[in-house]
Amino acid sequence: MKLSAPITGIAVLALGNLLSAQTPAKAGNMVEDVFKNVQALKGITADDFMGTMGIMSAAIGFCCSECHNNAGTDKVDWAADDNPRKVRARQMVQMVQKINRESFNNRQVVTCFTCHHGRDIPQQTPTYAMIYGQGPTEPDDVLTNMGGKQTAMDVINRYLEAIGGAANADKVHSYVATGTSIGFGGFGGGGKVTIYAKSPDMRTTRIEFAKETERPDSIRMTNGKTGWVKTPLAVLSEYQVTGNELSGARVDAMMAFPAQLKTMFTNLKLATPQGISDLPGPSSQTEQEKGAGIGQDRAVDVVQGTGPGGTLTTMYFAKDTGLLLRVVRYANTPIGRIPTQMDYSDYRDVGNGVKLPFHLTFAWLDGRDSIQLDKYQINATIPAGKFDTPESLVK
Ligand code: HEC
Ligand code: HEC
Repeated sequence: MKLSAPITGIAVLALGNLLSAQTPAKAGNMVEDVFKNVQALKGITADDFMGTMGIMSAAIGFCCSECHNNAGTDKVDWAADDNPRKVRARQMVQMVQKINRESFNNRQVVTCFTCHHGRDIPQQTPTYAMIYGQGPTEPDDVLTNMGGKQTAMDVINRYLEAIGGAANADKVHSYVATGTSIGFGGFGGGGKVTIYAKSPDMRTTRIEFAKETERPDSIRMTNGKTGWVKTPLAVLSEYQVTGNELSGARVDAMMAFPAQLKTMFTNLKLATPQGISDLPGPSSQTEQEKGAGIGQDRAVDVVQGTGPGGTLTTMYFAKDTGLLLRVVRYANTPIGRIPTQMDYSDYRDVGNGVKLPFHLTFAWLDGRDSIQLDKYQINATIPAGKFDTPESLVK
C-alpha cells in the first residue's frame, strides 16, 4: 500500500518538457479528433479530457507515469500502451458512470476521489484515531446557505467598500498590469508578466522569458467568446479553450472587475465561515512569497454562486479586512469536477480610489503560476490584438 503525496505540478511539468511538441488543437476539437485510443471518456473536448487526466492523477495520488509507462521520456506512447493499470483505470471510469447512473439517478456524486482520497488502494475500515479524532475537516464542494441576518450580497458589498467603493470600482473598464513571475519548483521564475484586462470579460495573461533561457512564453487568453492557452510544458502545448474550461476562464476575466461580482452570479449563498491558508509549496516559491500571500489560518466568509456557463464558484473574503483572498471555480467532467484556484493578496492603491491585488497565484491541476505585479495602468488603452489568437497559432 502506497500513500503518495498529492501530485505536484512539478512532476507533470518535468515530464512535459521532454515531450515533443504536438500539433496545436484546433477550434472545438473533441477527444476523438485529437487522441487515438479513448474508449470511455468520449464526447468531451480535448482540453476537458486533459482535465480528466489531471483529476484522475490527483484523486489517486499518481503521476502520469504510473498509468502511462515512459511518461517523461520520448518513448511514451499515451495511446497504444494499454498496460494493466491503464486498463483498470478505464474500467473504473465506466464503473463510476454506472454507479452514478444506476444508484444516483444520473447525478454525478461519486468520483474517483470519493473512494480513493489520494491513495491507490482505498481505505476500507475507519481507524480509532479517526473515530476519536477530529474527523475529516475538508469542506464540501457544493455548500449550503447557513441562513441568518447577513447575506452573500452583504459580504460582496463589504469587499467593494474595502477596495474603495462600488462607484469607484465601477469606473474601471480596462487595465494593463505588469510584473514578474515567481518560479514554482525551479520552473518559470523571473518571467516578465503582462496582464491585459477589458470589461466585461476579456483577459490575457502573458509570461515572457528572456531569450537566453530558451523558455517559450506562456499565454492564457479569453475574449469572452473563445480562449487560448499556451503552456509550453504540457502534453497539449497550445490549444483552444472550449467547453467548461472556457466558462471558467470567463469567470476569471469577469472577476478582474470587482464591481461585476454583484451581477455575474446566480444562486448566491453565504456558507459557514472557514479558515484558509496559503498553499503549501516548494520553498523556491514560498520563500519568495514571504510578506505577500494570504497567510495562515485566515478567518474567511465563504460565498458561493453559479457563474457564466454554470460554473460553480466559491469566494473567500477575509473577515478582518473584507478583501477577496481566494476564488475556487469548478469545471464539470464525466468523472468529477476540476478545481482551479486563484489567490489574491497584497492589495494596494492603483489610482481612481481603487485597490487591487498585486500578488496573484493561479493553481490548476498540473501547474502553478505565481505573479508579483508592480504596476497597474487603470483604464489604459489595450493595444490591438491582445485578445486575438496568439501569433504562433496563426502562423
Ligand atoms: C489512473 C491512471 C491514469 C493516470 C494517472 C493518467 N492517465 Fe492518461 N489515460 C488513462 C486512461 C484509462 C486513458 C484512456 C481513457 C479512455 O479510454 O477513455 C488515458 C488516456 C490518455 C491520453 C490519450 C492517448 C490517446 O491518444 O488515446 C493521454 C494524452 C493521456 N492519457 C495523458 C495523461 C497525462 C498527461 C497524465 C498525467 C497528468 C495522465 N494521462 C495520467 C489513465 C491514466
Ligand atoms: C466505489 C469506489 C471506487 C471508485 C469510485 C473508484 N475506485 Fe479505483 N479502486 C477502488 C478499489 C476498492 C480498488 C482496489 C481494488 C483491488 O484491490 O482489487 C481500486 C483500484 C484502482 C486502481 C488500481 C490501483 C493499483 O495500483 O492497483 C486504479 C488505477 C484505480 N482504482 C483508478 C480509479 C479511477 C481513475 C477512478 C475514477 C474514474 C476510480 N478508481 C474510482 C475503488 C474505487
